[in-house]
Amino acid sequence: MSVEDDPADGWFPESVATDYDGPGGANAPEVVTSAVDVLEDLAEGGPVLEFAVGTGRIAAPLAARGVPVSGIELSRAMAARIADKPGGEAVEVTIGDMTSTRVAGEFSLVCLVFNTIGNVTTQDGQVDVFRNAAAHLRPGGLFVVEVGLPDLRRLPPGQDVVPFAMTPGYVGFDQYDVVTQEFTSNHVTVSPDGTGRFRRIPFRYVWPAELDLMARIAGMRPKHRWADWARSEFTAESTGHVSVWEKAPHHPHEAPPLG
Ligand SMILES: C[S@@+](CC[C@H](N)C(=O)[O-])C[C@H]1O[C@@H](n2cnc3c(N)ncnc32)[C@H](O)[C@@H]1O
Repeated sequence: MSVEDDPADGWFPESVATDYDGPGGANAPEVVTSAVDVLEDLAEGGPVLEFAVGTGRIAAPLAARGVPVSGIELSRAMAARIADKPGGEAVEVTIGDMTSTRVAGEFSLVCLVFNTIGNVTTQDGQVDVFRNAAAHLRPGGLFVVEVGLPDLRRLPPGQDVVPFAMTPGYVGFDQYDVVTQEFTSNHVTVSPDGTGRFRRIPFRYVWPAELDLMARIAGMRPKHRWADWARSEFTAESTGHVSVWEKAPHHPHEAPPLG
């Protein structure tokens, strides 16, 4: 971490936030537009709450379409960038932890995109995210999670590392603990002058069926599971998913029986 990084910003301090909105990848216009299209459609004109709203990559363009958008975000450094984007000034941001922070209002849709459920590194914490999402939803409201699947099929016995990128100046690899479902995402960057940076971010991977159970604990039921924002079919070959759960339209404060 550099001197201006605030430890309260967690894994996304100033030195990360400053590069977060670079061109391409998750910031490519077609990637953002496909996610925003689906979220706008699912919200049906109602208010949206984005957990871990980050720099407003998704929230700002959604708000620019006239959708009322609020966000919860742990990192002040990330959240400080939201208002710079078109639509961003309309996003109501609360600094806090999505496992427990409550904001005023009742929402048609809560969303948590770009693998960020994995930033909560315990199963209990991830259940708390689902409970907190349900607590913000109107009866019949929707919770949307976009998350990748762990690449365990590429792990031969005795090996725990899966490389995902190796280009001049950059090496990326994930390291898995299949007992705890924890993994680290590792990024090694070497500049032309030979100086380097190593970033190691902890995650917890979570299976689709496990997410369905978390939703059920929180009083929600499965509505959609797509392989991507284009709503492609989710199959055995999918590398991630966009899943949607619906809060029970009746008895909104009661979880369904677990039996
Ligand atoms: C990969 S970024 C995603 C940001 C944004 N949703 C996007 O799609 O670009 C992950 C974000 O989650 C935030 N975050 C991680 N854990 C959090 C928590 N428990 N509560 C709130 N925000 C959290 C981080 O600070 C970071 O801004």
